[in-house]
Amino acid sequence: MTEQLAPDAAGIARAAALLLAGELVAFGTETVYGLGADATNNQAVARVFDAKGRPHFNPLICHYADAESAFADVMANETARVLAATFWPGPLTMVLPRRITCNVSLLAGAGLDTLAVRVPDNEIARALIRAVGRPIAAPSANRSGQVSPTSAAHVLNGLDGRIAAIIDSGPCPVGVESSVIDLSGARPFLLRPGGVTLEALIEAVGPVAKGMPLSAALASQTLRSPGMLLSHYAPDLPVRLNATVVRADEGLIAFGPALPGAGAVYQLSIGSDLVEAASHLFEALRHFDGIGGLRGIAVMPVPQDGLGLAINDRLERAAAPRD
Ligand code: TXA
Ligand code: MG
Repeated sequence: MTEQLAPDAAGIARAAALLLAGELVAFGTETVYGLGADATNNQAVARVFDAKGRPHFNPLICHYADAESAFADVMANETARVLAATFWPGPLTMVLPRRITCNVSLLAGAGLDTLAVRVPDNEIARALIRAVGRPIAAPSANRSGQVSPTSAAHVLNGLDGRIAAIIDSGPCPVGVESSVIDLSGARPFLLRPGGVTLEALIEAVGPVAKGMPLSAALASQTLRSPGMLLSHYAPDLPVRLNATVVRADEGLIAFGPALPGAGAVYQLSIGSDLVEAASHLFEALRHFDGIGGLRGIAVMPVPQDGLGLAINDRLERAAAPRD
């Protein structure tokens, strides 16, 4: 079911056409195989989470062909420029503030104000990104909970039939994921150790502290504790889940035919489709911020299967008590 494409011009052209049509294509990088989607297409990004079976909307890394195009989407500081000049193309991912002009899907960034960007050291991967003409969002190409794949066969073990195609560019030379460094604050934090060592990072830019990976924070309850990242995750208005009735002074996030009587409605998916609902979720959470006269947000029940797990996880964070 999954098309196997050669790492040549025809394979790249076919892969690019599939990606532009919103399909998923796995491809090799120097670190591990990525599960690629057009980063600017909400629905395609929602399919990534569906194919992986992730229980949380962990933000995805956006892959670019060069530093210039990456820094057109995020704001690079001096440290980022030095790291790009030293390590790109290569196994380093930088977390930087999104520009307002950045049209990467909110879902790809899990609704955060920052975006993880990298330029992979693999000619085929960069040729594919250039052919698509847009950034490619790609987590490691494994089902959630499995190890990251370093060959096309590993990818197909987990994802055959769940993705449109794979470009087989051979084994991945680095074999571990990219290092993830957060440069969005006053000091650099290494969120995930990987292909570029901490020592090499320190040699290039000076002190780098060790930070907690966002994935660990997402898996724990940390995001609910005061201070940490919670501000990125909460709409202005209080959120009420599993609503079966709605008041006129509430905004309604609907799943399926909307409950009557809401002050305003944002529809996740009229046909109760979980992939479509995921693709609209982060817009939904921001939608009511600018609307006057509302005192809260009511959310209709979303089933706890498939992508519904991740959708409910995100909604529960939005509804968690705040200071
Ligand atoms: O080597 C790699 O990085 C591979 C290849 C395919 O490029 N990709 C990969 O992606 O490992 P993934 O989704 O499995 O891991 C992405 C990591 C996660 O730990 C995620 O939490 C973190 O990057 N991340 C992404 N965006 C972030 C953000 N805005 N802030 C903090 N951490 C972020
Ligand atoms: Mg992974």
